[in-house]
Amino acid sequence: MERRNVGRFAIVTGASAGIGFELAKCCVEDGFNLLIAADQPKIHEVAEELRQSGVDVEALETDLATIEGVDALCDAVGGRQVDALLANAGHGLGGAFLDQDFDEARHVLDTNVTGTIYLAHRIGRDMRERGEGRILFTGSIAGFTPGTFNAVYNGTKAFIDSFSFALRNELKDTGITVTCLMPGATETEFFERANMEDTKIGQSKKDDPADVAKVGFEAMLEGEGDGVSGWKNKIMSTVANVTPAEVLAERHRKEAEPGSANK
Ligand SMILES: NC(=O)c1ccc[n+]([C@@H]2O[C@H](COP(=O)([O-])OP(=O)(O)OC[C@H]3O[C@@H](n4cnc5c(N)ncnc54)[C@H](OP(=O)(O)O)[C@@H]3O)[C@@H](O)[C@H]2O)c1
Repeated sequence: MERRNVGRFAIVTGASAGIGFELAKCCVEDGFNLLIAADQPKIHEVAEELRQSGVDVEALETDLATIEGVDALCDAVGGRQVDALLANAGHGLGGAFLDQDFDEARHVLDTNVTGTIYLAHRIGRDMRERGEGRILFTGSIAGFTPGTFNAVYNGTKAFIDSFSFALRNELKDTGITVTCLMPGATETEFFERANMEDTKIGQSKKDDPADVAKVGFEAMLEGEGDGVSGWKNKIMSTVANVTPAEVLAERHRKEAEPGSANK
């Protein structure tokens, strides 16, 4: 297959696992050189694996929930032109909000929202100066539904889904496109990390992260507004748009309540 982006440079956050790893694979297969980031040392092993395809891959271990962590990532860019920013790092937190440790809940917000948009602010300004660039956010169809027993997380994805379209519109007369990948439940480490393995949704059959990433990557290259992977998720997001929030919240309870896997 023809590589369309040979020699171009992209950043992928949350590339050590799941959807981000698959997005990074799409990038290297298409010829992008990469700077990848995640919070744990595994990111270095992943970089080694991605380098096998012959492109340059640098890895940075950094907590993107912090301003300093995002600054470290921008420093690692070192003045290079960023052709594509794939802001994908994120995580959830299951359980009842009042039972959660607030620092953990805040880490969800700081990663999924503050760190994500701060990174877009810094890289986006450079893109605006050049008048070109591609930005992909990993939002979620969860953003259409009040997330009973994963409440903070769904709120962060509602933010990203909305923010992405707003930024896209602000930049419509520039050479920068903004795309929101909106996956449904996907087979990654997400549910284990969010401590949601004992829930119905945690045990359900999920989408393949490689398929999900491909949809997002192609949507980004095409400059589309969103990428909802799979017909089931397309229907779910359309239905959610016309369903009362109360009904959606109750439905989410059935899927995400701790112990619901055995009910
Ligand atoms: N799986 C789903 O069902 C689903 C559905 C819709 C949307 N999404 C979204 O897809 C994105 C990727 O999630 P995934 O499902 O692929 O989960 P995953 O397998 O757990 O991967 C999450 C990635 O994000 C990184 N990350 C998380 N917090 C970070 C932080 N503070 N700083 C730096 N890196 C951080 C992780 O790195 P470390 O291990 O180093 O922390 C990992 O590389 C997230 O934004 C998630 O909200 C997932």
